[in-house]
Amino acid sequence: LIIGYCDVQLTWKVLDIFTPISICSLIVSIFVTAGLIILILSVSLSGQGLGGSKGTVYSIDKWPIGNLGEDVILSCKFKTSTNSRESTSQVSITWTKEGLSEVVYKYDKGAVQLTKQNPQFKNRTLLFSDAIGGGNASLLLRDVKVGDNGVYYCSVSTPSCSGTASVNLRVAAFSAPKFKRVNTTLTAEAERWFPKPNVTWLDVNDNVLNESETSFFNNSAGITRFISSLQPIKLYGSYTCIIQNPLVKAVSQATVKGPVNTFQRKYNFILRKYLDENCMLDNSHPV
Ligand SMILES: *[C@@H]1O[C@H](CO)[C@@H](O)[C@H](O)[C@H]1NC(C)=O
Ligand SMILES: *[C@@H]1O[C@H](CO)[C@@H](O)[C@H](O)[C@H]1NC(C)=O
Ligand SMILES: *[C@@H]1O[C@H](CO)[C@@H](O)[C@H](O)[C@H]1NC(C)=O
Ligand SMILES: *[C@@H]1O[C@H](CO)[C@@H](O)[C@H](O)[C@H]1NC(C)=O
Ligand SMILES: *[C@@H]1O[C@H](CO)[C@@H](O)[C@H](O)[C@H]1NC(C)=O
Ligand SMILES: *[C@@H]1O[C@H](CO)[C@@H](O)[C@H](O)[C@H]1NC(C)=O
Repeated sequence: LIIGYCDVQLTWKVLDIFTPISICSLIVSIFVTAGLIILILSVSLSGQGLGGSKGTVYSIDKWPIGNLGEDVILSCKFKTSTNSRESTSQVSITWTKEGLSEVVYKYDKGAVQLTKQNPQFKNRTLLFSDAIGGGNASLLLRDVKVGDNGVYYCSVSTPSCSGTASVNLRVAAFSAPKFKRVNTTLTAEAERWFPKPNVTWLDVNDNVLNESETSFFNNSAGITRFISSLQPIKLYGSYTCIIQNPLVKAVSQATVKGPVNTFQRKYNFILRKYLDENCMLDNSHPV
């Protein structure tokens, strides 16, 4: 999960694996030592250890989902071996995107360098400048667009730390449904979904209700609006509407309370962070 190179971090990984079965601490320490030697050897043989750098560059959210038109943070952090603050005049941060030759954002020795910035990102990107010295190289990307989808690389170089972390941004659109009831028909309407979702209704016991009908409408930007109606409903009851596409699942509940057309609703979004669990580990990028 960690791209870059840092023998300290790799050692912790080995300890994590062996601690739960530490019946014999002597054997464990032999394994750890052997593992450490192998890791140090492989790191230096891979060529990445040249320069003798310490520290690590990583992302705490490698699979963010951006909501079209809103802002998203591409997470990137760096940690020096001493955990001390870096002087920002010695920090260089370059964000690039796979397939683009120009940079997304570049910060070098205390100054923003945007002469070679790709026009797609003009005026839409920012670093958290106050937090750079503390190891925060995260990028704020404003007004997310469909074309922002893709793999980003955050390369950090300081006197005591250097490496690259990747972040895989997926772009979706999602908005909460509004419920309406007229007599025994309950409808859910949502304005912005992308990719096109499917809609399922459940009763209070989580049984799927098949007396529903959903109409989808496209707007000009390829975003889907839909209205889904469920009929007949009971005068007192709770209904769950599930809207999902491969990236986002929204679970919303409407509670019908008597013949007066009032109800309560609550909802939450579940962002599907991993398109495919196997992709999580295979995310490296040659520096
Ligand atoms: C640092 O990075 C995280 C994302 O990784 C972000 O949420 C946060 O606001 C940033 N800024 C500070 C001051 O920590
Ligand atoms: C940059 O963004 C600001 C605020 O979002 C806006 O007022 C300004 O016109 C933009 N400038 C360019 C060159 O797009
Ligand atoms: C709702 O029910 C009332 C009374 O039964 C009826 O008059 C009205 O037309 C119904 N409304 C709709 C939209 O079906
Ligand atoms: C759902 O549809 C199936 C056939 O498509 C039907 O047999 C079944 O009775 C329906 N369930 C309800 C609760 O209406
Ligand atoms: C909406 O657009 C998509 C792709 O642009 C298309 O496949 C789909 O048939 C359209 N749906 C409607 C209801 O127009
Ligand atoms: C609805 O969409 C989800 C996510 O894309 C998918 O896993 C599920 O199979 C779909 N259900 C139906 C009935 O199409």
